[in-house]
Amino acid sequence: MLKVGIIGLGVGERHASIYENDPRCDLLGIYDFDDKKLKYLKSKFPNVKVYNSDLDMLNDEKIDLVSIASYDNYHFKQILKAINNNKHVMVEKPICLNKEELSQIIKAKSKKKNIRISSNLILRANQRMVDIKNDISLSRFGDIYYLEADYFWGRIGKLNGWRSEMEYYSIILGAAIHMIDLIIWMLGSNPISVYALGNRLGSKNTKLEFNSFAVMLLKFPNDLIVKITGNGPCTHPHFHGVKVFGSKRTMIHNFSESYFFERSRSGIIKKDLSKQNFNNNKKDKIITNFIDSILNTELCPIVNQKDIYNVMAVCFAAEKSIMTKQMVNIAY
Ligand SMILES: NC(=O)c1ccc[n+]([C@@H]2O[C@H](COP(=O)([O-])OP(=O)(O)OC[C@H]3O[C@@H](n4cnc5c(N)ncnc54)[C@H](O)[C@@H]3O)[C@@H](O)[C@H]2O)c1
Repeated sequence: MLKVGIIGLGVGERHASIYENDPRCDLLGIYDFDDKKLKYLKSKFPNVKVYNSDLDMLNDEKIDLVSIASYDNYHFKQILKAINNNKHVMVEKPICLNKEELSQIIKAKSKKKNIRISSNLILRANQRMVDIKNDISLSRFGDIYYLEADYFWGRIGKLNGWRSEMEYYSIILGAAIHMIDLIIWMLGSNPISVYALGNRLGSKNTKLEFNSFAVMLLKFPNDLIVKITGNGPCTHPHFHGVKVFGSKRTMIHNFSESYFFERSRSGIIKKDLSKQNFNNNKKDKIITNFIDSILNTELCPIVNQKDIYNVMAVCFAAEKSIMTKQMVNIAY
């Protein structure tokens, strides 16, 4: 039995349910600095221990796996402590906020080969995205020359909460990161450079003083170009849009429909894709698969440590590009 602790009980409540319902796990304890959340979760899972602090949990030798779902600015210190105390780590995105923190995580983790770290990049578990990845690997698009991936957040109220109180909030690390990860995963290749721009025109009426929108152009080694947006203030339902343009096929995954175009002798034909896989997020899969990979060390998790380090490197380069107004080469 893996003994699990959870820090932060917003989306962390979902983590708690996953572990609680997995016979291989014992949900040992929870911590949140909001007493109301703690009381509510304690009533839902009466057998769990309520810790007095995050450190209290992270120093508890009984805990094997910690799920970190605190605010973005706490992840780094909690991850570092968990790694140093030999605990497996499932952390919500982003794992940290800058390059220096990332280096420290990589260094600490490199000394602890027996523990695993993953991040809840859940779009990898969306069946439509899995289908697109498969079609790419089967060369169904021909030569792919351009992709677009849009993170329509559609929850502008979130820009007023803890995100607006952070010393710095990044819409790239907070939202676009999902689309960057998705594209790298689908293509099986890392971009070499990025040019990014951002603004906060759409969120002037919120408390957020940082960019709420960002657009990035990523260049891949074979000249393939990808455009990614992190769209915080959009008047649009929460959705993850993808477009793939290849020499044989164009695929559009929009909020209202999903289809592809192919050439035939009679011209360009449209094929609608089933709605079945439209928004089919198997949200629990990333965490369940992480548990699999801890218990079977021969199994690589769907989101492995290298994947996390790579997506963070792209995000930091994009942030630098916004600041310097220059194209930035990505250092992995
Ligand atoms: N993977 C995803 O798709 C996804 C979705 C939502 C949120 N997230 C991430 O999850 C994290 C939490 O977001 P949320 O939407 O659950 O926020 P939330 O405000 O709904 O809940 C966060 C909870 O964590 C608690 N908390 C924060 N920092 C803490 C700390 N240091 N110690 C103890 N408790 C702490 C807060 O009191 C709150 O109850 C963020 O990093 C966010 O980016 C990821």
